[in-house]
Amino acid sequence: MATTKSGDPPSYVITPTSEFLSSLEVDRPLLRYDLAGSVAHARMLGEVGLLAPDEVRALESGLRAVDLEARTGTFPWRSELEDVHTNVEVRLTELAGPVAGKLHTGRSRNDQVALDERLYLRATVHDLAGRLVRLEEALLRRATEERSTPIPGYTHLQRAQLVTVAHVLLAHFWRFERDLDRLWATAARANVSPLGAGALAGSTLPLDPARTAQELGFDRSFENSLDAVSDRDPLAELLFDLALFAVHASALGEEIVLYASKEFGYLERSPVLGSGSSLMPQKRNPDAAELVRGKAGRSIGDLVALLTVLKGLPLAYDRDLQEDKAPVLDAVRTATAVLDALGDLVGGIRFDAERLGLAARDPELLATDVAEALVRHGTPFRAAHEAVGAHFRAGSDPADLTPLRRSFPSAAPELDAVRDPATAVARRRTSGGPAPDAVAQQLELARARLAAHAASLSSLGRKVGLVEELLNEEEK
Ligand code: ARG
Repeated sequence: MATTKSGDPPSYVITPTSEFLSSLEVDRPLLRYDLAGSVAHARMLGEVGLLAPDEVRALESGLRAVDLEARTGTFPWRSELEDVHTNVEVRLTELAGPVAGKLHTGRSRNDQVALDERLYLRATVHDLAGRLVRLEEALLRRATEERSTPIPGYTHLQRAQLVTVAHVLLAHFWRFERDLDRLWATAARANVSPLGAGALAGSTLPLDPARTAQELGFDRSFENSLDAVSDRDPLAELLFDLALFAVHASALGEEIVLYASKEFGYLERSPVLGSGSSLMPQKRNPDAAELVRGKAGRSIGDLVALLTVLKGLPLAYDRDLQEDKAPVLDAVRTATAVLDALGDLVGGIRFDAERLGLAARDPELLATDVAEALVRHGTPFRAAHEAVGAHFRAGSDPADLTPLRRSFPSAAPELDAVRDPATAVARRRTSGGPAPDAVAQQLELARARLAAHAASLSSLGRKVGLVEELLNEEEK
């Protein structure tokens, strides 16, 4: 049987432009997935009679030997072999002998890379989702601690109405919650195997794509081979999910930056926030939150980079598609770092109770509450708005409601009740509102979501674990 001599590059990768063509820098992380996909492919070839049982065994043990080298850092990567797929094939030839030449039966690097990327995506979503859950848990813990702490709420960055610290933290929680939902949906839609599509048009050999799909924990195999080798929707979706997550993270980062400034003063100065100035001895900068804010630029750039590569590509495989990996790796690395940094920040920041108390006692924050007190005693809202607006514009002590009490005597007792921030915010009991009672319900909803995520994590974890199982399984 003719095969490449051990160690020789197959002729298809020999070209003067090989350095430019190489994707090794970005596809090394796909190695484990490539190996697991190959185990599944070899087994399928055996089942349909294209390989003899001893050939399947030899390939499987060769692939596991490659995996061992990869795990122990002894795999001899060779840049002239263009990519992870050919590196594995050549090394397998060295370890297992000529039978390695049969592994590529009915398979192209085109369906192979698409498969590897989907396996990578599944594992990556599992990892990121776990980190996102931990960030949500941190937010929830802090929200529980600060359930009744009043803080000014802002619109247009102007003091607007009282809310609670818990309510602010939970607002960020629900954003991240939607990010998590998007990640689950992305992984679910991506769970279709492209293996068997070949280069673009399947094969004349009796392949069984459903079999490899099942072995690798996919819901089904591709519907159309041309689509299967060109579809990068899962990666584009992942990048969108991570870009929007980064935008959400940047907003939380911005809030921490503002709260840490002396102008707000809501956070205690602490090394948790970041480092100091090399020149100004008094400084403690909110670097971590700023960097979280800044990293969003990268993540959005990564999404735009991939969409730009995909735009206008003709069907099936084009080498442009190799450019899908760098933005994905960058966005995943960025999101991982941001998730961990935010988790530390959220867990480590301390609210300055005194400054918060002072800010929350700003009488302007209760202007709407005063107007609503008048409404409760029969004044039309528009008239109440005018009267209270005039009071706050009058220039006298805004906390002294005597003039309003005189104009609206029946509302007078209620006006007294809205003066203390804690009492006032406790009245904002609208479902989904900031009052501690309403927040208690929110916390319950949030805890239920976290419990549901634990189940999703373990079910995705089982699929992710199939890769390890295929590589660890004792030979049959
Ligand atoms: N390195 C390639 C990529 O990342 C693998 C597929 C190569 N296919 C090909 N026909 N040259 O997309």
